[in-house]
Amino acid sequence: MSADRLIVQEVAPRDGLQIEPVWVPTDEKVSLINQLSGAGFSRIEAGSFVSPKAIPALRDGAEVFSRIRRAPGVIYVALIPNLKGAQRALEAGADELNLVLSASQTHNRANMGMSGDDSMTAFAAVASLTAAVNHDAASACSIDGFRTAVTLNGTVATAFGCPFEGAIAEDRVLKLVDRYLALGVGGITLADTTGMANPRQVARLVRRVLERVPAKALTLHFHNTRGLGLANVLAAYEAGARRFDAALGGLGGCPFAPGASGNICTEDLVNMCEEMGIATGIDLPLLIAMSRRLPQLLGHDTAGQVAKAGRNCDLHPAPASISATRPAVPAAA
Ligand code: COA
Ligand code: ZN
Repeated sequence: MSADRLIVQEVAPRDGLQIEPVWVPTDEKVSLINQLSGAGFSRIEAGSFVSPKAIPALRDGAEVFSRIRRAPGVIYVALIPNLKGAQRALEAGADELNLVLSASQTHNRANMGMSGDDSMTAFAAVASLTAAVNHDAASACSIDGFRTAVTLNGTVATAFGCPFEGAIAEDRVLKLVDRYLALGVGGITLADTTGMANPRQVARLVRRVLERVPAKALTLHFHNTRGLGLANVLAAYEAGARRFDAALGGLGGCPFAPGASGNICTEDLVNMCEEMGIATGIDLPLLIAMSRRLPQLLGHDTAGQVAKAGRNCDLHPAPASISATRPAVPAAA
């Protein structure tokens, strides 16, 4: 795979739907994920296994995971907050568990109802459980030959700023990255939960984290709350990052972060990459068609721009008045 390629992890089924006030029926969630599976994504965050009281919109995660049609080569990720979430996600067949805690103590308490240290202690238990499950799967593998290991990803939320505490020290984020790595996670995500990051800050932190993990193991998760989402992607990309979360239609947001709004919009990101000559492997016309159906599903307009404007190559006929007055093509000399 080209080193310039940008990997998009689609998070609309999780981050996108978790904040929607209308209930999206399980059938619709399954259909959304199945369509995304055919759009060229290698990774889809398909749901979360959190308290149904905290996030009622995703309370059907187990059924969703059991009913989706798994495309070969696609990793279906589940967000989890604790050991119970890990047990439920493993039972449901998630390929990867995304552990989430916040760099901000206040946001961790608001979002997860515990301190950051308590989250990390819970994740140590999750890491032990996953290692045991993988060990059993490896034994099974020698018999049936098809089971693959469940992987762990560690997310640091509010890594670029917190709506309660304001600025977050980079060293605090790096300390959490190190603690995740000590647990044996295979990937790290830096999340800008409420769109407080700016491009220079992003480049600085990405460079520091890339001293610890390879680019293929680092994901950036931006929200476009202050309009800087794609600028931050570009800054991270230029600093060496290659993996990004994004949500169809720019859906999403954390219900426990005041002022939260949508993720960067997948089709807008893919469009930017196509215009810049950066490969993503994602079917942009299909994404645009899917995004245009979201208002019917959710009952409201979405933040995506390209689905409204069309691609650069979607040209319009010139007004008749201009065509009529256009100078005739000179005859060849
Ligand atoms: N899945 C399902 N149920 C869970 C659960 C999980 N992962 N973890 C806890 N619960 C249940 C408990 O069994 C208990 O149920 P009961 O009331 O029927 O006995 C209830 O939730 C409360 O459990 P408790 O351990 O006291 O947790 P809490 O109320 O302090 O909540 C979290 C802690 C982490 C479970 C909750 O804050 C949460 O799910 N947060 C996630 C928020 C989120 O997804 N944010 C957006 C993504 S970043
Ligand atoms: Zn998010």
